[in-house]
Amino acid sequence: MTFDAGNRLIAAIDTPARAEADALIARLGGVPSWLKLGLELFCAEGPGIVSDIVGRGHRVMLDLKLHDIPETVGRAAARVATLGAGLLTIHASGGRAMMEAAVKGAGATRVLAVTILTSMDAQDLVDVGFGGSVEDAVVKLAQLAQRAGCAGVVASPKEIRLIREAVGPNFLIVTPGIRPADSQAGDQKRVMTPREARAAGADLVVVGRPLRDAADPSAAARAVVAELS
Ligand code: C5P
Repeated sequence: MTFDAGNRLIAAIDTPARAEADALIARLGGVPSWLKLGLELFCAEGPGIVSDIVGRGHRVMLDLKLHDIPETVGRAAARVATLGAGLLTIHASGGRAMMEAAVKGAGATRVLAVTILTSMDAQDLVDVGFGGSVEDAVVKLAQLAQRAGCAGVVASPKEIRLIREAVGPNFLIVTPGIRPADSQAGDQKRVMTPREARAAGADLVVVGRPLRDAADPSAAARAVVAELS
């Protein structure tokens, strides 16, 4: 089971180094179902931090957003598979063969494909040579990820309904850009509350700063879990 239906919260551990990550994990008090480790921490500390955190009993989503030729991504995914992370991210725009190689290399680690980065708009797509709307690209990439054997996608809350219609129920939709009603949006422009994201069809939600910067991160995480269930 990739997630616990009673706890759909992934906490983003967006910290510069191990000491801050350990402190945040301790302050979260084991409330989130998953911890998301990203490029910042991975580049600072190396892969050992992933196996350490997994070894302490946490489920880890390793957010590396891999994108390269299929051979390279497959081999990198095989290295990730030895770390014990439950989820690994790649870019769907790397194409079907790249996604298939990632899925094969990752073994028991399930692969999530990022469709279109939430930081990109229609003009950015034109600039990189993609035609059509953001929505069309997201749906096409989600369907391609499903055919390639990915477990799901990472997408903006705004796109959850469209993706769900296109891929059916048995494909994970994981969404960042979540803000509890009483918190600051920060640089996330198209936000939803945990309850809205769940109602739209998200399986798991990623929350970063509203937990990291809370006076009581475990209480803030409990409030999000309650809203999601
Ligand atoms: O602090 P905040 O809740 O905005 O953090 C969201 C997390 O999700 C960050 O780790 C960010 O890198 C990540 N993310 C995102 N949008 C994406 C993919 C990942 O905000 N499309």
